[in-house]
Amino acid sequence: MIGERMQDAINAQIKEEMESAYLYLSMVGYFESIGLEGMAQWMKAQVQEEVAHAMRFFDHLVERDGRVKLLALAEPKTEWSSPLDAFQAALAHEEYITGKISDLVTLAAEENDHAAAIMLQWFVSEQVEEEATASRIVDLLARIGTDGPGLVMVDRELGARVPMCTPAPADSDGE
Ligand code: FEO
Repeated sequence: MIGERMQDAINAQIKEEMESAYLYLSMVGYFESIGLEGMAQWMKAQVQEEVAHAMRFFDHLVERDGRVKLLALAEPKTEWSSPLDAFQAALAHEEYITGKISDLVTLAAEENDHAAAIMLQWFVSEQVEEEATASRIVDLLARIGTDGPGLVMVDRELGARVPMCTPAPADSDGE
């Protein structure tokens, strides 16, 4: 059975992951509003990933006889000044989430919770990937600036991202 401190921290992280999904869903709305459908498509896939992250934490609690307690989500921002501004916000958000995962790893060590520590290793690697991907898009958008054809090209590239069909099971190595 999971300890109370770790249970509370995982419930808080479920909220963080769902707020990530909510933020990115808000960005889908923003990209749709300015006609960048490829970026909207990319963010939709990101929303699915974040829900899958929340479910990994949810399933971990259930498997260890913990109690899931869902918390209220904060209202996300709805406007950004440019696609670059939105992806910079996404990168900053992923850096924030990396800090939260790191705090959980520290807590697992303090609590001698090896099961949580093993589960969290997947998230440590995932955050490296999440930051690298967002950072690459920020760099691309910064390089093209306000160049119309460049923006269309990046939009097309991001639109090729394949959405997830179902959330990955808690014990798989999937996205
Ligand atoms: Fe769930 Fe994008 O980190």
